[in-house]
Amino acid sequence: MTPPTTTPLSTPFPTSLIPAAANRPADDPIFVLNGEARRRAALGESIVNATLGALMEDDGSLAVMPSVVEAIQRVPPKKGASYAPILGDAQFLKAVIHDVFDGHALAGKSVAAATPGGTGALYHAVTCFLEAGQALYTTSWYWSPYQTIATHAQREVKTFSMFGADGRFDLAAFESGLTDLIARQGRALIVFNFPCHNPTGYSLDEKEWAGVAEIVRKAGETAPVTFLIDLAYARFAPKQAQNWWAHAQRMLETTTVLVAWTVSKAFAQYGARVGALVAVHNDPAERQRLQNALAYSCRGTWSNCNHVGLLAISELLDDPAMKSKADVERARLIQLLDDRVTVFNREAARERLRYPRYEGGFFVSVFTNDAEKVAAAMREEGVFVVPMKGAVRVALASTPVRDIPRLVKALKNGLNRTV
Ligand SMILES: Cc1ncc(COP(=O)(O)O)c(C=O)c1O
Repeated sequence: MTPPTTTPLSTPFPTSLIPAAANRPADDPIFVLNGEARRRAALGESIVNATLGALMEDDGSLAVMPSVVEAIQRVPPKKGASYAPILGDAQFLKAVIHDVFDGHALAGKSVAAATPGGTGALYHAVTCFLEAGQALYTTSWYWSPYQTIATHAQREVKTFSMFGADGRFDLAAFESGLTDLIARQGRALIVFNFPCHNPTGYSLDEKEWAGVAEIVRKAGETAPVTFLIDLAYARFAPKQAQNWWAHAQRMLETTTVLVAWTVSKAFAQYGARVGALVAVHNDPAERQRLQNALAYSCRGTWSNCNHVGLLAISELLDDPAMKSKADVERARLIQLLDDRVTVFNREAARERLRYPRYEGGFFVSVFTNDAEKVAAAMREEGVFVVPMKGAVRVALASTPVRDIPRLVKALKNGLNRTV
């Protein structure tokens, strides 16, 4: 047998990485900006750092929920040190499904797998519901790791224009892109991050949800369709924006509905890496297939999740006293953020900034044709935001309420530099 031909080595220290991995970017651009903001602050400069998606107290420290810390500390050491079941503890999965559906009948049509945060849930969705080379389908503005997860798993991302000329969610663009995608690849995985969409802050209203549900239901008559709702920021939405169950029920007539659930924001616990993918289907046999597929994927990626985290969160979701303590603490955090949203909306309206409807959530995006220039001008004033194509992303989650007038002024000054 002749050995395979090899390319002659051109340098004394060639990379042994495969070509796809050989030129990966070194760091997430958001973390780079955050690093610069912190460096300048450490040198004594007055800095507003509106880059990071973690909720900070007005004193600049990370907001945490004492009940979550207590629950982690209360996990019996030997239990926490043992392997978690591959899908996650049954008590955890049951509690998550209850948390997602709050007693609604959809809970009875759900199975779930524990995942390391919402990121793990998205990874499972991409690898179980799309073939290699196929694209997930999402809004034109989206959380950039969707692309990283897809690329890493040899999948792609296809988007539709999120807003119409009236500034509302563009149902027609959603439907036509979905029809095209199904014609091309014969299936679809739709990924929606509502309410409190990252990065725009947008939440669908009742009418928009109803339109989406009908489009998805119709698409499901033509091909296998999966609709994933990424609930990362949902707890920070106004109550009316959280009403998506009835619409999910409509979609279920022809499709599978997935929910990416995470404690990162809802329990202010980013480090424990606790999340779940919930899969909802009308047919019990399909639910069993879904659960088997998720269990296999768990084994083939991270094996099982952080057991201390799963046990602690189970306790918080299940124990009435702990649960109500956590609810009270979360309510304070929601109020902290809502106060910032109110001040931002007031100041931004005064300065006539262009941005989507914003009723709550960690981020909002302000439209501009030259985001790099706006963000660079703002950095000169010591204000850090994240430039994207067509907008800058502002993390009110990390901006103390007293700094919001300065932030909005810097936005206005930056935007003035582009006209
Ligand atoms: C839109 C969106 N989805 C999912 C996640 C997942 O976060 P985690 O993996 O920490 O749950 C994030 C985190 O920033 C996010 O912004």
